[in-house]
Amino acid sequence: MSLPELSNNPDRIGSHSGMTMSRAAPHSDADILHLTRFLTDSVGGSVDVWKAHGDFAVFANGGRPVVFVSGAAHARTVFAHPDALHLSFGLTGPRKSDQRAFTRGVFGINGPHHQFVRKLMLPSFRKPVVEGHHDRIAECVREVIGTWRAGQTRDLYREMKSLSLLMTDRLLFGGGDLDLSRRVDEAFDTWLGLHHRTSFAALLPVESPPDAYDRLLDAASDLGALLRQLIASCRRNAAGSDLVVARLLAAADAGELTEPDVLGLVHSLFNAAHHTVTSALTWTLFLLAQHPEVNADLLDELSGPAVPNRATLVDRVIKESMRVLPPPVYVCRHATQPVSFGGTGVPAGTVVVLGLYVTHHTPSSFASPERFDPARWLATAPCPHSNVPFGGGARMCLGAPLATQFLETALSLIVPRFRLTVVPDSHIDRRATLTLRPAAGIPVLIRDQDRRFSTSPVTGTIHEMVNLPTATAGAAAA
Ligand code: HEM
Repeated sequence: MSLPELSNNPDRIGSHSGMTMSRAAPHSDADILHLTRFLTDSVGGSVDVWKAHGDFAVFANGGRPVVFVSGAAHARTVFAHPDALHLSFGLTGPRKSDQRAFTRGVFGINGPHHQFVRKLMLPSFRKPVVEGHHDRIAECVREVIGTWRAGQTRDLYREMKSLSLLMTDRLLFGGGDLDLSRRVDEAFDTWLGLHHRTSFAALLPVESPPDAYDRLLDAASDLGALLRQLIASCRRNAAGSDLVVARLLAAADAGELTEPDVLGLVHSLFNAAHHTVTSALTWTLFLLAQHPEVNADLLDELSGPAVPNRATLVDRVIKESMRVLPPPVYVCRHATQPVSFGGTGVPAGTVVVLGLYVTHHTPSSFASPERFDPARWLATAPCPHSNVPFGGGARMCLGAPLATQFLETALSLIVPRFRLTVVPDSHIDRRATLTLRPAAGIPVLIRDQDRRFSTSPVTGTIHEMVNLPTATAGAAAA
C-alpha cells in the first residue's frame, strides 16, 4: 500500500555478506518498455518484468537500485524483516504541504511510532468488535441493493464503489456526511493515479510525465482540504465511539498525535479500506457471474442453514477471488539495512517492489494460476506466503477481519436475492496502479435469483488475468 521513498540513494549497487547483487546492466529497450508500462498498468508491467527476468529483477536509475521481486520465498523475506525493510511514501512533498502530511499515515511510518499507531487502532479491528458491526454492514448492503430492480442494467464497479463508500463512511468515519465522502473519493482517485505514476517515474529509468509533480501537489492539497472537512465531521459524529477514527481523535486530544498525524492516518485509512474493498467486491461478483457452477454451489450454501466453525465455500470464493485478482497489485519497501533475497544481497537504499499479483500467479505455487477455482483450497495447502492479499508479518492488514466481514455479508445478501449476468460482449480492461479495478466498469443485467446461471462472452485484458469458461451464448442475455 506504500510507494517507494526517493531519498537515501546509494551510488552503487553493492554486495552483502559475500553475496553480490549483480550490477544492473544498462537497460534494454524492452526493459524501458516494461517499466514505462508499469507506470500506467502495474499488472502488465510487473508481469512483463517477471517474464523477462524471473522473480528477482534489478533496475537502477542513476545508481539508485530498484528490485522487483515475487514468489512465496521473496514475499516471506519482505514480510519477515520490518526493521530492515521499511514502508515509505514516495514523493514526500515540501514541508508543511498536505503531500508531506500524508507521509504521516500508516503507510509511511515505521519503528516505535508505527507500533504505537498500530496498537492504538487495533482494538477497533478485533474480532468481537468487527462481529458487532454485522447489522450495520447488512444495513449498508440492503440500502444499495434495495434500489436494484430486475431488468435493470447497472455498472457493477459503480455499485460496489457506492457500497464500499457507505461501509467505509459508517464503519470507519461515523457516517456523518456521505456526500463529502464521495468528494473525498473522487479527489483520492486523481491523487492516487498521479502518486503512483510520478513516484515510480522519478525512481525508474523512464520519462516522467510533464508537470506531473506540480499536478500531484495540487491534487494533494485538494484532497487534504476535503479530508480536513471529513475529520471535522468525524469529530461531530464519531467522538467517543468504538470506531477507529474516534481513537485517533482521542489520541490527538491527549497530545499523542499531531494534526498532520491525524490527516495522514485518515488519508491512509480511507485508501486502505475503500479502494481495496471496492476492488474485492467488484471482482468477486464478476467472477461468480462468469462461473455458473461456483455461483450455483454458493447459492446452495447461502440458502441453507449456517454451519458454525466450518470452512465454507464463501470463504474459499473470497480467498480465490483475491488470489486471482488481488486488490493491491504490489507492496513496496525501502531497505534501511542490507537484506538477502534467496542468497542475493541488496544494499541499504534499495527500493523493493513485491508483486502480489505476480506472486499469486506463480505456476510453481498454483496449478493453472489463471483459473478461478475455489475448490483448489480444499485440496492444497500451499506455502502461506504464496497467497498474500492482506500482506504479512508485522505490517499485515489490520482491517482484514473487517474486510472479510464486508465481503461475506455482501455476498450472503446479494447472491440469494439477485442473479447478475455480465452484459454480453462487454469490454473489460483493467486499470491497475496500486489497486486493480476495471477500467470502464462492468455492465451487469440484474435479475431476480432464478438459478439460470450463464457465462457471457467478454473482451479485454481481463482474459490476460483469468481464464473464463466458454460463454453460454443466448442464455446470457435472458
Ligand atoms: C479486501 C480488502 C483489503 C485488502 C486486500 C487489504 C490489503 C492490505 C495489504 C496488502 C496491506 C499491507 C501493505 C504493506 O505491506 O505494505 C494492508 C495494510 C493495511 N490495511 Fe488493508 N486491505 C483491505 C482492507 C482494509 C480495511 C477495510 C481496512 C480498514 C481500515 C484496512 C486497513 C489496513 C491498515 C491499517 C493497514 C496497515 C497495517 C500496518 O502497516 O500496520 N485494510 N492491507
